[in-house]
Amino acid sequence: MRLLRVVLIAVLVSPIALALLVASSFAQSEHPRHPPSPGGSGHGPEHSPEHSPDHLAHDFDDVEAHAKRFDDPARDAWQKPDEVIAALRLVKGMQIADIGAGTGYFAIRLARTPEAPTVHAVDVAPAMVAHLKSRAEREGLKNVVPVLAAADSPNLSTPVDLVLVVDTYHHIGDRVAYFRRLQASMTPGARLAIIDFRKDSPEGPPVEFRFEPEQITRELTDAGYTLDARHDFLPRQHFLVYRRAR
Ligand SMILES: C[S@@+](CC[C@H](N)C(=O)[O-])C[C@H]1O[C@@H](n2cnc3c(N)ncnc32)[C@H](O)[C@@H]1O
Repeated sequence: MRLLRVVLIAVLVSPIALALLVASSFAQSEHPRHPPSPGGSGHGPEHSPEHSPDHLAHDFDDVEAHAKRFDDPARDAWQKPDEVIAALRLVKGMQIADIGAGTGYFAIRLARTPEAPTVHAVDVAPAMVAHLKSRAEREGLKNVVPVLAAADSPNLSTPVDLVLVVDTYHHIGDRVAYFRRLQASMTPGARLAIIDFRKDSPEGPPVEFRFEPEQITRELTDAGYTLDARHDFLPRQHFLVYRRAR
């Protein structure tokens, strides 16, 4: 009799449990794990500062695809790397941080200069850091130090005299807090050079991630820097140099 009651309850309850299970899985599928990117396809999620650091790092995991774009020799025509490096006025023995070094477009060129500075090639994407390490080894550049950054810190192990941030400023979330904290990793009088896309550049991130120089200067003034130089020779990007104010 008791056995019959148990069997009857099981028969009645199991379709209800099954229905609840199906309903809950439908509910989950309406809430994807990642929100859609504001930029839509193309310049996708990597340009959303709201994305988690982990997500941001994985957006740059396909190193070979990015290397084709970042290290395309055609880039030199508008990126003018030699003129940029000349404007940075390097000095022997300098420590430089290239934040958002990517595949090493600037980090490798800086390390190869006669001044042979130590270049901390910093990136938040583990695959980029691994690529930087093997590229530096392949090219016999002992003065490149690959560094895995966190989204809110470059994780520098030593204070630097110059920080270079190329096409990466717009990737950083709370920039005022980030660059204020960065001063602890800068020597007195150290400089911070920002290169990022102009609004009218034929390539670059979605327009909401392209900033006027006034906005960059406002943010960096709030973070404790003063504008030191403004170079106008790059056709697609602003090139602004700041100094630690304190
Ligand atoms: C558009 S790429 C620029 C690469 C390189 N600077 C160049 O000019 O070729 C941006 C790079 O910044 C990195 N990045 C994004 N947010 C970062 C952060 N908070 N700290 C360090 N690197 C970051 C990305 O992983 C990517 O490699």
